[in-house]
Amino acid sequence: MSVDLAKVVGHQSPDKPVAWNKRDLLLYAVGIGAKKEDFPFVYELDKKFAPFPTYPVALGLKGEDQDVNSFAEKGKIEGAPGLPNFDLNRVVHGSQTIEILKPLPAVSGHGWKLKEKICGVHENKSGIIVDAETTLADGNGTAYARLYSSAFHIGSKVTGTKFDKVIAGPPQGKPIPKDRKPDWVVKDQTSPDQAIVYRLSGDYNPLHIDPRIGQAAGFGGIILHGLSTYGFAARALLSAIGGNDPHALKFFGCRFTSPVKPGDVLETSAWEVGPGPDGTIEVAFVTKNLTSGKAALGGGIAYIKKVEKSKL
Ligand SMILES: *[C@@H]1O[C@H](CO)[C@@H](O)[C@H](O)[C@H]1NC(C)=O
Ligand SMILES: *[C@@H]1O[C@H](CO)[C@@H](O)[C@H](O)[C@H]1NC(C)=O
Ligand SMILES: *[C@@H]1O[C@H](CO)[C@@H](O)[C@H](O)[C@H]1NC(C)=O
Repeated sequence: MSVDLAKVVGHQSPDKPVAWNKRDLLLYAVGIGAKKEDFPFVYELDKKFAPFPTYPVALGLKGEDQDVNSFAEKGKIEGAPGLPNFDLNRVVHGSQTIEILKPLPAVSGHGWKLKEKICGVHENKSGIIVDAETTLADGNGTAYARLYSSAFHIGSKVTGTKFDKVIAGPPQGKPIPKDRKPDWVVKDQTSPDQAIVYRLSGDYNPLHIDPRIGQAAGFGGIILHGLSTYGFAARALLSAIGGNDPHALKFFGCRFTSPVKPGDVLETSAWEVGPGPDGTIEVAFVTKNLTSGKAALGGGIAYIKKVEKSKL
């Protein structure tokens, strides 16, 4: 099979069946640090019980499995002509966005799928970046969420020269205002066991549990799943701005800029930067490892319905 990056863009993967139940939703919520106060996400009998809005980002690796799965199998990019063979140990999640189109049911039932298309490919001296557009749809083809993600294959090479082709992508956010303090700051501590909980949502990459693999990869031990930190930031915005209403968050995305270790304290700072679509506000945010001051999530953008604080 010949390698031609231009041919890859637009490639549609076979539909991937997905399924979830209420227990999966509860498990995801604790994987992203939900606490006993976060009733709509941790207690299935709560009147407002609903999936945490970023849940679909976990489905790509979970698929429809109820048992654990093999990361080596799930991580593969299947049947994309024109791509070189990638080394699964040298891929990092570059960015992830999710647009929530319709509220998800608490139990999927049969027929749900992810429709995935490669919507961009880039090559530079450091490697190859593959952008994917993924739509979560029910058995009738109705779309519930649209996701964009990019995977950076470090050290991969086709020509070794600069290449860019993009046919679709998420909205671009506004930069963080330099002249004013954040409108919201939320601090939260990841637990030393955060990664062994988050992995139960479907990402069983040994990098997140086996210190030997983390050492070999140059991380000095295990690191937390980027998507767990992602969920911590989404929880921070939803509770501070959206009154923890499961339906307040409409769009959420960021770049993964540095690793987080289980046990690190995270601080999410958010600025209202203008109106968003459909009565939301647009928020720019950054999430830092509070102890080191290093940004773990950067270029953050969210569209969220702001809930005015109710009177006591
Ligand atoms: C290549 O792209 C990646 C991802 O955007 C970036 O982190 C890296 O610095 C780039 N490398 C070069 C040599 O431009
Ligand atoms: C398709 O739509 C019908 C009518 O709205 C609904 O009853 C059914 O559950 C849907 N099927 C799937 C697989 O989502
Ligand atoms: C977060 O900051 C603390 C304190 O500097 C440090 O010990 C920890 O390793 C940092 N985490 C990462 C992933 O760099």
